Amino acid sequence: MIKTEDFKFDTDFTLITGACGGLGKAFVTKCAENSENLLLTGTSEKKLSALYNEISERFNNLKILTYVCDLANRENRKGLLEFISKEKITITRLINNAGVIIEGDIDRFSDEEIENAIQVNCIGTVDLTKKLLKVRDRTRKFEILTVSSIASSYPIPHMAVYAATKSFLVSMMTALSVEYKNERVVFTTVCPGGMATTQAMKDSIKSMGIGGKLSTIPVSKVAEGSLKALKRKKKIYVPGLFNKFLVFISKPFTKSFLARQSGRIYRKSQKKRNF
Ligand SMILES: NC(=O)c1ccc[n+]([C@@H]2O[C@H](COP(=O)([O-])OP(=O)(O)OC[C@H]3O[C@@H](n4cnc5c(N)ncnc54)[C@H](OP(=O)(O)O)[C@@H]3O)[C@@H](O)[C@H]2O)c1
Repeated sequence: MIKTEDFKFDTDFTLITGACGGLGKAFVTKCAENSENLLLTGTSEKKLSALYNEISERFNNLKILTYVCDLANRENRKGLLEFISKEKITITRLINNAGVIIEGDIDRFSDEEIENAIQVNCIGTVDLTKKLLKVRDRTRKFEILTVSSIASSYPIPHMAVYAATKSFLVSMMTALSVEYKNERVVFTTVCPGGMATTQAMKDSIKSMGIGGKLSTIPVSKVAEGSLKALKRKKKIYVPGLFNKFLVFISKPFTKSFLARQSGRIYRKSQKKRNF
């Protein structure tokens, strides 16, 4: 039997946050290859317009929209919802990819930097998810893919805010998946290890030695695996065998034991980078 969700409707869109970033762009490419219409968001008009030109040239059969949205800004998030309503499009898949990675001791950061990371990684992501759940087409399947991190499994001293925000996302999305279990809403949370997306991440991975190398997976593989996991309705997806092992071995230990171990590893790696 052919189900309604097997058809691709012309007004169906996949919304990708942080679309211009390393992993974001990999999601954009994979979804475009899968013939999905795309609503791409980010903070920079210039980067979004360059991405629009590149993708619309390669995939000229698709509808592609862009919208500048600072996820930390409530008015911007409201504006995004108004834009979706004005364009009369239906979001059937949300990819919560945008994230702020802040690394270092907590007293290195200004209040604003810490608030911004929590706003983008937690508040903005939850608010957007809640708003889109509210306006979704309830006769259809709605998919939510959220990018957390392997850092969600460990409290990480010297990177405490980031690890805590990613842990929040796993807890939040897993809980919501139960709230919505009878409502054709699929939640998958992805916990990648290293991805060499920015110079800071490349330096960080290098300073972690063999562990960093084994944990690092190309963004195209992470995006592909994540979309497959979403299709299989997997609640949590950890890309790569080594990363799966790191999550598995964290299970029996107390949080304070894990914090001491990860703290030692991060301190060593940050010393190599003159943090
Ligand atoms: N790289 C890694 O090793 C790693 C590991 C595990 C998980 N992750 C997660 O993977 C996701 C993608 O990160 P990435 O490695 O691809 O880094 P990236 O290239 O820096 O991408 C991050 C994206 O987040 C967006 N963003 C930042 N602040 C924003 C804001 N205020 N409002 C809206 N969007 C904002 C940026 O958008 P603009 O460019 O438009 O500003 C950017 O596209 C993040 O959630 C990150 O935490 C990364």
